[in-house]
Amino acid sequence: MIISIVGGTGNLGKGLAVRLALAGYKVVVGSREEEKAKAKAKEYSDLCGCKIDGLVNERAVDVCDVAILTIPWKNALDFVRQYKESLSKRIVVSPIVPMVKEGEFVYKPPNSSMAESIASILGDKVVSAFHNVPAKRFSNLNETPEFDVVVCGDNEDAKAVVMEIVNSIERLRALDGGPLSNSRIVESLTPFLINLASRNGMRELGVKFV
Ligand SMILES: NC(=O)c1ccc[n+]([C@@H]2O[C@H](COP(=O)([O-])OP(=O)(O)OC[C@H]3O[C@@H](n4cnc5c(N)ncnc54)[C@H](OP(=O)(O)O)[C@@H]3O)[C@@H](O)[C@H]2O)c1
Repeated sequence: MIISIVGGTGNLGKGLAVRLALAGYKVVVGSREEEKAKAKAKEYSDLCGCKIDGLVNERAVDVCDVAILTIPWKNALDFVRQYKESLSKRIVVSPIVPMVKEGEFVYKPPNSSMAESIASILGDKVVSAFHNVPAKRFSNLNETPEFDVVVCGDNEDAKAVVMEIVNSIERLRALDGGPLSNSRIVESLTPFLINLASRNGMRELGVKFV
């Protein structure tokens, strides 16, 4: 299975690329610039000792079975409209959290949740996951944090594939979060976690249900 990480050159993309490659998946890092994609793919390959490829986003989407969209929320809907034809044939994972800083961080979805907005363009193979995974801790291979990942989606087959991907990563546990409409709850937890950390002198909080 090929997993492409669109905008995988950023914070969350790095952790996903190296940990999914370590789990045995073929991983492609996507970028708007081919050279940047290749440079980051080499950096990540050196970090984890696995082969990771880099391609421009459009090609990265074309070659994959599963596309994880690690791009800023403000650009996400334009991106999925632009690559709708190819993306709608694939399982698309949204970890995207629409939030703004108004003193503290505030959840500001465009209309419904970000995941539902993407699904309104791409169809039902959109699954949401990874919203509450703090990127810097996740990409530090010297640390193996234990987090739960709530996975929401309306297509049960696509959701099962994404849960298997999550569970392949050491010390992540996938939990079935129900329909895609529950994404708004999971997305909104991220600004809450950032504010909670800031108020309590903590950093990079994730979630674990016990
Ligand atoms: N950071 C976290 O801890 C975290 C945790 C959970 C979820 N998330 C979500 O994951 C997503 C990525 O977060 P991040 O922190 O990794 O973001 P980031 O580092 O700021 O950006 C990720 C990548 O997005 C690409 N990008 C920037 N502007 C773009 C545009 N106009 N169109 C298309 N691509 C563009 C860039 O790649 P190129 O320049 O190479 O194209 C960049 O490397 C966000 O939606 C965020 O809400 C983040």
